Amino acid sequence: MVRMVPVCRTATAVLAAAACALLALLGQPCSIEFPRCGSPAMLAPGDPLTVEVRLPVPWPGPFVRAARLTAGESVHPLAVRGVSLRGSRAVLDCTVPAEVPPGAYGLRVGAGRGGAFRPNAVFLARQLPERFRFVHITDLGISAADPSVAARFRNTVDEINDLKPAFVLLSGDTCDMGRWSEYAAMYVLLLGIRAPVICCPGNHDRKGWAGYLTAMGRPYHATDFGRWRIVSLDTAHGRDQLTASQFRWLQRHCPSSAGGNSPDNSLAAAGDGGRNAWPPEPPSRPCLVQLHHPLFGRESVAARRLKTAGFLAGGGTAAVFSGHRHADAVYDREGRRREDAADFAGTKFVVTTAVGQSPRSAYGGGKDARRGYRVVYVADGRIVAYTHDDDGDGIPDPVRSTPLRAGDEDGPRGE
Ligand SMILES: [Fe+2]
Repeated sequence: MVRMVPVCRTATAVLAAAACALLALLGQPCSIEFPRCGSPAMLAPGDPLTVEVRLPVPWPGPFVRAARLTAGESVHPLAVRGVSLRGSRAVLDCTVPAEVPPGAYGLRVGAGRGGAFRPNAVFLARQLPERFRFVHITDLGISAADPSVAARFRNTVDEINDLKPAFVLLSGDTCDMGRWSEYAAMYVLLLGIRAPVICCPGNHDRKGWAGYLTAMGRPYHATDFGRWRIVSLDTAHGRDQLTASQFRWLQRHCPSSAGGNSPDNSLAAAGDGGRNAWPPEPPSRPCLVQLHHPLFGRESVAARRLKTAGFLAGGGTAAVFSGHRHADAVYDREGRRREDAADFAGTKFVVTTAVGQSPRSAYGGGKDARRGYRVVYVADGRIVAYTHDDDGDGIPDPVRSTPLRAGDEDGPRGE
């Protein structure tokens, strides 16, 4: 009995420490991984919505209570049909009530201490349109050393909002030096865009990877807009190329004419008893892909670019949007630079000049270098226009993106 006293004291101390640790974990904040600015959800009222919440412990019970959409003072609870666990993430299968009005919404999940919130996470439309336009921007390069970049982009946000795009693709190099303050400023600027912003990272974002992930979330994702699939993929990762695993990820998420039973799939299934067999083939649908590095031309990715271009073109991807080069260019699936027409059959590999970082000359001589963004028009499952009419003669230029409004190159208007 005499020896039991210290044993009991030790056990009590261990239990108390464990309880304190558990209470500390329960007090940790959760975060909404999806949807969010960078990978938003674009839906119609009545549609299902999957919400992913990262938890401090793999135990959703005390954390996930409810999910709701918010816009100003209005709050719309989501119907949560079930909660499951994927690692330390809780996956909420929700439904957007049919009576929620169209618009842009923040998402709040009653999780952890105070819950979690993401602004500009869910965008509702009565019916996702067949005819719409979207904007492609890239190489924003918000810089702590050069505040004129952010000032200029504030004007560009106004231009984008005037266009009322269905969504905005942002193809990386969001900040210049990777500083935390740059990502915080970039995030606030993007929240000024009144359309869904869909983002992938660039090589500059690797300088402040934690800042990028905090601001924009996962570096590769696929989302749907009506019958369109939009795939965003990280090509930066320090080596500026597509790895084998990234190509596999593309195969899993892009519609493919090759079918799911590719030779690679057979090998994977045979080698590990089928554990890595491909999931069911993605449904056939028109697809847009964005990668920071172009697949063709100067400064393109080194490895697997022809294989990737062939896979995407073979699967019917309408266009691949890239940046990195700070100049406009358009290529066909064979890698030929297409300056002969503003449209051609097959997949378009489109490079857009920088919207914020220093532009470069596409043709030499330096006179054509300019900042800009690309407005892409879509109708009935295909891209019908993606270039700007530079000289205003009513005939779209074969390659050019839209330049920033006059005056934007010199600084902010009205300041
Ligand atoms: Fe880049």
